Amino acid sequence: MYLHSPSFGAMSTEPPSPESQRRRQCVAATAAASAACFAPVVVLLAVLVLAPSLLPRLLLRPHHAVPYIASAELRVLSFDAAATALAYNLSAVLRFDGGPPAPGLRSRRFTAIRAAPFYAGQELGAAVALPELAAQRRGGGATVPVAWAGVQRVAPGRGARAVASALARERARGFISVKVAVRAAQDGGEESDFACVLSFPVPHKRDGSGSGGATPGVFDGGSCADAVRREF
Ligand SMILES: *[C@@H]1O[C@H](CO)[C@@H](O)[C@H](O)[C@H]1NC(C)=O
Repeated sequence: MYLHSPSFGAMSTEPPSPESQRRRQCVAATAAASAACFAPVVVLLAVLVLAPSLLPRLLLRPHHAVPYIASAELRVLSFDAAATALAYNLSAVLRFDGGPPAPGLRSRRFTAIRAAPFYAGQELGAAVALPELAAQRRGGGATVPVAWAGVQRVAPGRGARAVASALARERARGFISVKVAVRAAQDGGEESDFACVLSFPVPHKRDGSGSGGATPGVFDGGSCADAVRREF
């Protein structure tokens, strides 16, 4: 009964009114025009942004392997504004991949590995030197743990203000980002620099422990990127 009502039949069979057709065509034309205008702009912007990082990668270091952060923990990152001192305690597991099989090469060798954490532009302590590694090709890669802890004095002034404001802003957002700079040589070649961004949930003080211990913020891992040589 209901299905045969005249209005239902009209809705399902009548073509759309010319006005709505015109509107649809107009919307489609506008979308096509804006896509045509924006596509070259987007491509140009992408080239401008990516060229400085892609060109050295493509031209100068075509075969090197980029390290990976398998996991990391942040136990302490706190700033004493009066002493302009940044206390830190964090650790990470670095992974270097063996890469695809290559004729005559059983493994990739990584030497002169060093890693240092940075917060708001401040290097936290000196870079830690790590033992050399061999990663089997087609294997799961080789991992090495590294830990950094101590108190980094920051010069009063701009650097100290940058640390204080970055920490306040990040604590409010619930995440603290520490950059780890890694340098390594591959298969006896030139040393390459990498930057890894570690993003930790803010560590929480344990309730009533009184020992100053905190539940660490855990970072699940992520890839590092090529970096311009300037750290350390
Ligand atoms: C850093 O944290 C670890 C784990 O809680 C602890 O064993 C170590 O003593 C701490 N290092 C410093 C310098 O506080």
